[in-house]
Amino acid sequence: MNILLLGSGGREHALAWKLAQSPLLTKLYIAPGNAGTASLGTNLPLQPTDFGAVKTAVLAYAISMVVVGPEDPLVQGIHDFFLSDPDLKQVPVIGPARKAAMLEGSKDFAKQFMIRHGIPTASYRTFDRSTIDEGVGFLHSLKPPYVLKADGLAAGKGVIICKTREEAISEFTSMLTEERFGAASLKVVIEEFLSGIELSVFVLTDGKNYLILPEAKDYKRIGENDTGPNTGGMGSVSPVPFADTRYMQKVEKQVILPTIRGLAKEEIDYRGFIFFGLISVKGDPFVIEYNCRLGDPETESVIPRLQNDLVGLFSAVASQTLCDETISVDPRTAATVMLVSRGYPGPYEKGRVITGSDAVTGSLVFHAGTTFSKTGMDIISNGGRVIAVTSLGATQAEALAETYKNASKVVFEGKCFRKDIGFDL
Ligand code: AMP
Ligand code: GLY
Repeated sequence: MNILLLGSGGREHALAWKLAQSPLLTKLYIAPGNAGTASLGTNLPLQPTDFGAVKTAVLAYAISMVVVGPEDPLVQGIHDFFLSDPDLKQVPVIGPARKAAMLEGSKDFAKQFMIRHGIPTASYRTFDRSTIDEGVGFLHSLKPPYVLKADGLAAGKGVIICKTREEAISEFTSMLTEERFGAASLKVVIEEFLSGIELSVFVLTDGKNYLILPEAKDYKRIGENDTGPNTGGMGSVSPVPFADTRYMQKVEKQVILPTIRGLAKEEIDYRGFIFFGLISVKGDPFVIEYNCRLGDPETESVIPRLQNDLVGLFSAVASQTLCDETISVDPRTAATVMLVSRGYPGPYEKGRVITGSDAVTGSLVFHAGTTFSKTGMDIISNGGRVIAVTSLGATQAEALAETYKNASKVVFEGKCFRKDIGFDL
């Protein structure tokens, strides 16, 4: 079958790499893709949120499955768009419909859902412009640090953690009155700060059945020892030692099962990945966020460990027969380090020529923000996160050593990366 994969990051390169290995695949198209995905299929110059252009491509290239990488098209309803179009409704979309994607698209919706279904999460309240005074009063009732979250999608930047009450009140007020995150901060969630180690858990569901994929840990801060501003993610490892069988049983019982049952009970048909952003408090998992997609750079560590045929798994999602599948996982550790542009996560440089990828041996190179130069002769940087290097090793130390060896071979001006991925595990 021909598959169209939407997105352009390291996650999509890793998915494309996996899909391309399937004997069930005929042709792979990636929209818009990057310089890395171009070696695995055909990049199409269209934006995933331009549903009309996606439809044209699906019909032009006889696509029989669409796999959605990022959240925006899902939250904007690409799955619903397919279901309501007579020409497209036979084409399965891997990624939830709009209502289900609200688990990521609205923090307030996600919090209410968790409360309704008894899923452990930080206590919280939601405020809007008409309830700023109550919000300030609520901040007075909490102890520092303070967690403020823009309700809607804010490209990973919508969470602010404030050390002092003064700062929290000022940020909270500006989020609501100045719409700091546009429409995303028309509502703001204030929640209890949870202290603990974070874990990313991924589930693939067909709405009835689910499979748990390998877990991963993401390193979000720009600086070593988890310091400095948040980024999209500077590296990842999978598996995560503290997430042993006993811990994962807790996650399944206390978080995954009530989520899947809650969706079914509310007749929310979810077909795709659910990403549980967890924080472990005294050995118990709490949900800090849901995402309606895979994580990036977690995917770059998780997908190389997955031994199943991914097209087969996606077909089972479409036919709601995931109950017939089991996940098969490479027991080795995967370690990913993200090479980023100087300046990131602030304003960063672009257009730097990237060399040295050909010299990499023993690691996988997944492109994130890359494209071709105008002449087509060079691969150049085109984003804050540029390239992810992933290795598999018998131990985390071995995987990281290989990754760092190869990370140094990839060269572009202003290349930065964290040298301490996995330091806390
Ligand atoms: P999110 O954008 O929801 O992934 O949140 C970004 C980061 O903020 C998370 O990865 C956590 O490190 C942190 N965070 C979010 N909610 C909380 C919370 N309730 N307590 C402590 N840290 C949090
Ligand atoms: N790495 C975290 C995310 O994809 O949201």
